Amino acid sequence: MDAQEFRRHGHDVVDWIADYLENSERYPVMSPRRPGETAALLPPHAPEQGEDMADILADFQRDILPGVTHWNHPRFFAYFPANNSAPSVLGEMLSAGLGVNAMLWQTSPAATELEQSVMSWLGELIGLPGPEAGGFHGVIQDTASTATLCALVCARERSTAFAINAAGPEGLAGAGPLRLYCSREAHSSVIKGAKIAGFGAAHVVLVDGDESRAMDPGDLDRRIRADVAEGLTPCCVVATVGTTGSTAIDPLDRIGPIARKHGLWLHVDAALAGSAAILPEKRWILNGIEHADSLVFNPHKWLFTNFDCSAYYVKDPAHLEQAMTINPDYLQTDFDPDVANFRDWGIPLGRRFRALKLWFVLRSYGARKLREMIAAHIELAAEFSRWVQADDQWELLAPVPLNTVCFRLRRNGWSEAECNVRNKELMDRVNAAGRIFLTHTTLEGRFALRMAIGQTQTRREHVVEAWEVLRSTASAPTSG
Ligand SMILES: Cc1ncc(COP(=O)(O)O)c(C=O)c1O
Repeated sequence: MDAQEFRRHGHDVVDWIADYLENSERYPVMSPRRPGETAALLPPHAPEQGEDMADILADFQRDILPGVTHWNHPRFFAYFPANNSAPSVLGEMLSAGLGVNAMLWQTSPAATELEQSVMSWLGELIGLPGPEAGGFHGVIQDTASTATLCALVCARERSTAFAINAAGPEGLAGAGPLRLYCSREAHSSVIKGAKIAGFGAAHVVLVDGDESRAMDPGDLDRRIRADVAEGLTPCCVVATVGTTGSTAIDPLDRIGPIARKHGLWLHVDAALAGSAAILPEKRWILNGIEHADSLVFNPHKWLFTNFDCSAYYVKDPAHLEQAMTINPDYLQTDFDPDVANFRDWGIPLGRRFRALKLWFVLRSYGARKLREMIAAHIELAAEFSRWVQADDQWELLAPVPLNTVCFRLRRNGWSEAECNVRNKELMDRVNAAGRIFLTHTTLEGRFALRMAIGQTQTRREHVVEAWEVLRSTASAPTSG
């Protein structure tokens, strides 16, 4: 494809994306396709001869698009937001165009230095103490799962004075197994990270929650002391600020001193909720963050930045580098003593130029507008929860500190078991109709419908419609 052709098709694609971002409402939110339907439309082998871009784009619209679930649809209320935005798409396009690999400072000085700057801006926006105050240094990772894995490796190596990095499991020599503590509501990436980092799922200790499902610091302390008494080696606490199920907020200001007293690494997983800390009135969610060794939150969830872009902050970058470093001759440069080489700040060697899209987002919106947009989502969630509470057929199942509402339909005479079945049926019927898409969680055995409000284009009318769809579907007769 020559530059002329690229220009022509590029304009077509940008036009298409602009229409899409403006009119994504015209699609059913959730793809109606069944397993295998998309694959059946694709030829079994790659073409031998190159094909015309016009044909490829036409096939994209005909064969691929109907198999897409529209995460950026204003009536997407499932899982968690993955909100993108036009400025972010532009930054992403430039990053793709440049095709930079930001593994070393030398492989693209601007990529490293822009990343350092935007991570410092972002840290300031959520109220993190910066390096000058003994606080945090930032680096962009692909996902929160990867950032949490990095934190677990760092915790492991701090507990063992780098013995496991050097000698593998034998490095533990004599010390009991390493133990990791998190709440029952912690994200699955914590257990996954524990498996990969060699803790083992059996050594993840699930700490009890309080009435809001946040980690109970008293239970944490008890469990750590019990492990010590048994000869096990407490290593790390992962606190969740904004659990996936119900956005419960573990109290960092009470957990931090316990972690410190026992010499444990404290990692904070604020994958979704961290973005809310750009609001002064929500800053409390990170109260006590000064006790943490590391923190992750995802601009790709709730800060209008395309997937992927996960913000990882560490207090001690030298420790992170030591845990991750690989230094073959061909990667060494004369600049190394004076610069950050981000290949040593995470797991992969190769790294995308993600800072560009975050820079575009922060500059194009500005902090004030970002605050307004996040505050609007939180207000919509509060309003939705008031509708639920005001209707005696419905029940709120968890507090709503941020943008996620857990609730269910509850009719007189329904047992808990029937309630679960009925709400699952309701969710399936609502989703199949294609107007809205929402998912569920399970809270103490109760099937909870879950509205996560946070897409870039979501406005009040979309949330009103969601409530109407839920209520009308609940009162429509079922086949069963
Ligand atoms: C609290 C929490 N942590 C971690 C994750 C995983 O995020 P990622 O997909 O960036 O790994 C999620 C996603 O749902 C989450 O809600």
